[in-house]
Amino acid sequence: MSVSDEFDDWAARGKDRGMEDRHWHTAKHVLARMPVEAGDTVLDLGCGSGYAGRALKETKDAGRAYGIDASPSMAANARSYTDDPDVGYLVGDFERLPFESDSVDHCFSMEAFYYASDPDEVLAEVARVLRPGGTFHCAVNYYEGNVHSHGWDDLVDVPMTRWSAAEYREAFREAGLSVAVQDNVPDREIEIPPESDFPTDEWETREAMVERYREFGTLVTVGVAPE
Ligand SMILES: C[S@@+](CC[C@H](N)C(=O)[O-])C[C@H]1O[C@@H](n2cnc3c(N)ncnc32)[C@H](O)[C@@H]1O
Repeated sequence: MSVSDEFDDWAARGKDRGMEDRHWHTAKHVLARMPVEAGDTVLDLGCGSGYAGRALKETKDAGRAYGIDASPSMAANARSYTDDPDVGYLVGDFERLPFESDSVDHCFSMEAFYYASDPDEVLAEVARVLRPGGTFHCAVNYYEGNVHSHGWDDLVDVPMTRWSAAEYREAFREAGLSVAVQDNVPDREIEIPPESDFPTDEWETREAMVERYREFGTLVTVGVAPE
């Protein structure tokens, strides 16, 4: 199935807001770290419900916030959640960004990068559109070090690339982005039931659930475009 068909189906079933609720636990910390200044242009790759653009506009006074998504229904839903004329949602593939070179101050992506058919091409595109000194905050829960994510590709009918933290750093550098920081943002909000409730439908042991959320959390790689 194509990425757009898969996620059109998710959007039609209201899963865009469900993802937002789950991802917000860690995404909000990543968004808070972004060095966005008033008036900046920001871009969210694989925007889903579009929460990141709205948050950067509201909390950091971004000048223009764009989200791009391969799924027309995701982009349509995102548009329906705001009437701010400075927040826009585009349908497109983030491997071919419809932006001029050196035109975006900061890029963000949450739980989307690894769906790219060619992740290196996405990084090349990000490096092209970013202004000198601009950043790419790339956040993923599906990565090699998160052993609890290893079966996720069986649940989604589109190919996924599972890189290690080191592979992310290497690919960023190959694309010409220096890696300013890479770390794990724990999810401290998801409720973890008491020991007596395990095993649950999803988790064999409480220890595994604690490791997945409180320890591994979201892998964040921050690339910076050369000055
Ligand atoms: C798991 S959802 C995450 C959505 C949102 N970032 C969030 O945190 O809730 C992944 C999104 O990436 C989009 N996506 C996947 N591959 C894409 C591509 N090549 N170009 C643009 N969007 C893509 C999907 O359509 C989907 O909406």
